[in-house]
Amino acid sequence: MTDLDKSHHRGDWALYRRLIAYVVPYTSAFIFSVAGFLVYSLGSVLLADLTQFLLDSLGQSTQVELGLVSAAAHWFWPPGDKDPLDYARVAVPVAAVVLSLGRALGFFVGNYYMNVVARSVVHTLRVELFEVMMAAPRRYYDANTGGNLLSKITFNVEQVSGAASDALKAILREGLTVLALVTYMLYLNWRLTLIFFAVAPAIGLVVVVVGRHFRRYSRRIQDSMGSVTQVSSESLGAFEALRVFAAGRQQVEKFTEASLFNRNQSLKLAFVQAVSTPVIQTLLALALGALFWFALDPTILAGFTAGSLVAFITAAAQMGKPIRTLSGVQSIIQRGLAAAEDVFEQIDIPPEPDRGTTSVSRAKGEIAIEHMSFRYPGVSEYALENISLQLQPGETVALVGRSGSGKSTLIQLLLRFHAPEHGEIRLDDLVIEEYALSDYRKQFGVVSQSISLFSDTIANNIAFGEMSEASYDDVLVAAQQAHAIEFIEALPQGLDTVLGDGGAGLSGGQKQRLAIARALLKDAPILILDEATSALDTESETYIQEALAGFCKDRTTLIIAHRLSTIESADRVVVMDQGRIVASGTHLQLLAESPLYARLHKQEIVQS
Ligand SMILES: Nc1ncnc2c1ncn2[C@@H]1O[C@H](COP(=O)(O)OP(=O)(O)OP(=O)(O)O)[C@@H](O)[C@H]1O
Ligand SMILES: [Mg+2]
Repeated sequence: MTDLDKSHHRGDWALYRRLIAYVVPYTSAFIFSVAGFLVYSLGSVLLADLTQFLLDSLGQSTQVELGLVSAAAHWFWPPGDKDPLDYARVAVPVAAVVLSLGRALGFFVGNYYMNVVARSVVHTLRVELFEVMMAAPRRYYDANTGGNLLSKITFNVEQVSGAASDALKAILREGLTVLALVTYMLYLNWRLTLIFFAVAPAIGLVVVVVGRHFRRYSRRIQDSMGSVTQVSSESLGAFEALRVFAAGRQQVEKFTEASLFNRNQSLKLAFVQAVSTPVIQTLLALALGALFWFALDPTILAGFTAGSLVAFITAAAQMGKPIRTLSGVQSIIQRGLAAAEDVFEQIDIPPEPDRGTTSVSRAKGEIAIEHMSFRYPGVSEYALENISLQLQPGETVALVGRSGSGKSTLIQLLLRFHAPEHGEIRLDDLVIEEYALSDYRKQFGVVSQSISLFSDTIANNIAFGEMSEASYDDVLVAAQQAHAIEFIEALPQGLDTVLGDGGAGLSGGQKQRLAIARALLKDAPILILDEATSALDTESETYIQEALAGFCKDRTTLIIAHRLSTIESADRVVVMDQGRIVASGTHLQLLAESPLYARLHKQEIVQS
């Protein structure tokens, strides 16, 4: 065994233990299920034993009562001086019906309660996974595509359920049946039964070797499902652009490639599976052949009644189906384990770092950024370099600069989505990392460059998250201040209109106005507007500017904008270029003193 194999082995045990921990809360359902399957497998054995009762009664054997079922029947209903055949004519059918009914009941209880366990485990895992994703740091989202994450919640978790329900059910049902049959055969004739044990190591070897292949292919299938989901969700969400740029063909090719890889890996898995089952069956057939040869040996025959011999062989023959099922179930288990590995890996993702303990209900809003530098992970160039910027409480600062100059990045750091590499940011004289994260983010009302709306009512989209308890009147006022009420009232259901996915059904400017209303309703001491009015016409923008002016008076505001009217109304303008602050002052000062600003103005990056 190589070192890698050993570590895999240890990993496997940790994996099983962790999975079992999820079953523990459903112990009673699990016990019900095991009991059900126990009854089922006992039923199977006793039905084989019934053949002894039937045959030995037919043969008028004096040893009829030796069988399990016949002994029980004789105990329940003593035959007295009844003719054995007459007795069997009633007792055998009754026993057959009772045993079948018992077996059927066991099957139902076993299956249903195992599903209770499996579906509950999947539910727990899925919710836990989603919770982890909700708390995961930005890094996690940058490293994974949306489609990939989606596939983890849908496909991977479902694979675990396959292992937990189908496979576990089969293992219990068929495993217990094999166990019961072997015990019964040992009871009838232990020497003959030992022949079966001779092939057991060979079967075990096949199972182990095949299992390794299954796991490897399962991992690949899983990854390729991620790619399939990724390409589809991306393409379905962008169908307009795809049609206009005639990129549909290209996406179909990407999709075909991902799906083809998935098909090939699935076929490899199917190949191993299709080979392993017949191999195991052949081994069993060899054992069965040897069994017959020995069973028909006169010396051994002498120890059997005809009925017992047939019952023994019936039991031996009955082993074929459960062992076949058991070997087939391996692929499901390995698929489940590969998925469980991945799901647990996700669940172990630490949440957003938050070592802050200082709580704050409402900050004054004094922000001091000092000598701050930042690089995106894996990028060698600085996105922000030696930034120093002070904002007094109540001050409005406009941030201008070319596209890609680092304006949005600065805000990301301010919101603690990234941590600075050098330097620090302070809020009210305390380094921002010192604040408890949830408290800290409460201080910001943000309208970001990309707006997230949800398929819910307009009112709920404005009274979002922590503001969900806001009164109807407050929502209305926020909608009025953001000049959103004009278009909302024109909608048939007004504030109760349900939006499409991501705010579908609204224009770009309408979405921005909802985002502004949301930020206003939050009533936070610091307001951040990243091109919040870029999609509006000049007239609507002027209206909103007027409303915002009143609103911004007593709060710290950072506005990223291109429009001169916005910039002029700010207390101060800060010019950024290539990740640095290159100038700061009023519009007129900058026009005179900053060549870059003058150029931005001329090139209409700052527009009148
Ligand atoms: N997640 C990221 N990973 C790596 N680099 C990034 C990432 N996001 C942005 N950048 C890079 O950082 C630089 C600054 O980007 P930023 O979004 O801050 O610009 P901006 O000033 O807001 O531009 P715009 O006016 O176009 O919104 C750009 O060069 C950009 O390519
Ligand atoms: Mg930006």
